[in-house]
Amino acid sequence: MMIASTDRLVVRDWTDAPDDLARIYDIYSRDEVMRWLGGGKGRMTDPAEAAERVRGWRERYDEYAGRWGIWAIEPREAGRAAGSVLLKPLPGRDGVTPTDDIEVGWHLHPDSQGYGYATEAARVVLDREFATGTRQVYAVVMAGNEPSMAVARRLGMTYLGVRTDWYGGVDLETFVLAGRTERLLAQAASHVAPTSVRPPVPWELLAHRLCDPAGCGAARLGWWVARCPLRG
Ligand SMILES: CC(C)(COP(=O)(O)OP(=O)(O)OC[C@H]1O[C@@H](n2cnc3c(N)ncnc32)[C@H](O)[C@@H]1OP(=O)(O)O)[C@@H](O)C(=O)NCCC(=O)NCCS
Repeated sequence: MMIASTDRLVVRDWTDAPDDLARIYDIYSRDEVMRWLGGGKGRMTDPAEAAERVRGWRERYDEYAGRWGIWAIEPREAGRAAGSVLLKPLPGRDGVTPTDDIEVGWHLHPDSQGYGYATEAARVVLDREFATGTRQVYAVVMAGNEPSMAVARRLGMTYLGVRTDWYGGVDLETFVLAGRTERLLAQAASHVAPTSVRPPVPWELLAHRLCDPAGCGAARLGWWVARCPLRG
């Protein structure tokens, strides 16, 4: 199933086709890839494991009906997958139970690194996810994985520091990206003066509009947002 696409890339399900299985083995048997994924746990040592891995992904993610999963990134001109992009619930401190926190991640074959594929594929699946109303998505990276942190930064993610909330409680460099609505609300709220205790009255709005036409609507929206009893 196709999940998303750009001019250069198709993001799709991994399949049982021989090319996909060979590519999965070629990626997930490599030390230079696997050392950054749980420190090498799950590194394949036998090509037959690729089919098991695809089966395992299906069992785990089929219930999400294409919304979350681990998918192949296929450059249109390459005719074979460059690697994977994933979007899925982060496993919690027990290392297994899915949390409500959504993770975006990327794994490329070394021959496909340096072309912008990870960033482009992540961006398109994030856009799709945020369109469903998801408020924020995390990326978690092992210390020292500079290429992966560079992807997070290129996506505009904010660095939160080291957190231990997921994947069995290990230290993970954590980045977060807020959805468009969340970012707009935060911007609007930041237009509100901290001493403001009442909604702006009409002449203040008029003065604000004269001084800062773009900020007027944002200030009003920000005042109401900041005081909405439904905000968590
Ligand atoms: C992390 C990883 C996906 C990053 O791969 P990457 O190729 O550096 O990242 P991107 O696909 O976004 O490509 C960006 C690079 O392509 C370059 N590039 C070339 N053509 C480009 C284009 N048309 N558009 C955008 N970038 C382009 C960029 O300049 C950048 O290179 P630079 O870092 O030298 O400046 C890769 O190192 C990897 O798979 N590592 C092993 C697994 C891993 O660590 N996964 C992450 C676990 S948290």
